Amino acid sequence: MLYEPLLRPALFKSDPETAHEAGVRLLKVLQAMPLGRSLVSWTAGPAVPGLETEVLGLRFDNPVGLAAGFDKDCCLAGILPCLGFGFLELGSVTLRPQPGNAKPRLFRIAESGAIINRMGFNGCGASAAAASLKELGKAAVPLGINLGLNKDCAPDRAPQEYAETFSMLEPFADYAALNVSSPNTPGLRALQDKLRLERILSALKEANRAAKPLLVKVDPDQSEENLKDLLPLIASLASGIIVSNTTLSRDGVPAAFADVKGGLSGKPLAQRSTRLIAKVYGLTGGRLPIIGVGGIFTGADAYAKMKAGASLVQVYTGLVYRGPAAVRRIQAELAECMRKDGFKTVREVVGKGA
Ligand SMILES: Cc1cc2nc3c(=O)[nH]c(=O)nc-3n(C[C@H](O)[C@H](O)[C@H](O)COP(=O)(O)O)c2cc1C
Repeated sequence: MLYEPLLRPALFKSDPETAHEAGVRLLKVLQAMPLGRSLVSWTAGPAVPGLETEVLGLRFDNPVGLAAGFDKDCCLAGILPCLGFGFLELGSVTLRPQPGNAKPRLFRIAESGAIINRMGFNGCGASAAAASLKELGKAAVPLGINLGLNKDCAPDRAPQEYAETFSMLEPFADYAALNVSSPNTPGLRALQDKLRLERILSALKEANRAAKPLLVKVDPDQSEENLKDLLPLIASLASGIIVSNTTLSRDGVPAAFADVKGGLSGKPLAQRSTRLIAKVYGLTGGRLPIIGVGGIFTGADAYAKMKAGASLVQVYTGLVYRGPAAVRRIQAELAECMRKDGFKTVREVVGKGA
């Protein structure tokens, strides 16, 4: 309640990455306190009934998850479910630790409800992430681990490095997400090429002895032709698709940000990713589970993505702008959209507007 009028203006006066780090530190402290989780649950607001769903062979209390990038080191899996998320996607995690790009690398565009980031997979690496997850124990909601790639990995070694990272983190994951779509690691998006992707997915399939669901996270800037080419491959070697990562487009942001390098997220990305979800849903006949992400600030935004074909959705930038009560508010608004249109279950909504 107090976040948007009081806390946000103060927070937005500080450097974005410093503010993020302060948020992570606070959540870590609360995670370690006996009453910390109850306090966060109380701040987030009451649970919203009637949003349970089942996708990828997993049960979800609600379809609103946390997008990758917020908890890159997988150190908040104990406390983040208290914000009301139906699932968490942690990472991206790379095999080896790396510092990421030079700062500043995170920019708010408040007038557009957007963020540009060029973090470049800063993180503690797979071994430390696994140790963190082990210490925290089983999370209260389904957990996805997003797999990134070190900057110094030669393209030919990508299949091995992704598979090695997967093997170290798989014991803690309910699903894994293959990130071949971040714009901030040179050459990463080029892995969305049929032959290269096939090699990576084959290596992951071989490493995936427990047959955990594997999803591919795609970028929103590729041609329809490329996407058409990739979908049969993804449908045969993976369990689903995440649409989408950040965009290189600068539509919807002031001209002053045209030359700021990085991926754009938030409101200006919303329609672009929803259109891509509808395309993927149409091209796959609704048979490939889709996680929809990009510019979800309200329940109506989540509803639009689900009607376009997303079975689950994720939020990142909306959380920065709407605060800790955002997740429950999005759910309450989503439930209201469903009630108005006469939908009784989340599954009934999926693809209904496509
Ligand atoms: C600061 C920041 C860091 C991110 N880091 C990652 C990442 O490590 N891996 C990834 O797959 N996506 C990453 N993303 C992309 C988000 O997961 C999401 O796809 C994108 O931001 C669109 O959703 P949103 O508009 O709700 O933020 C990042 C986004 C932001 C804003």
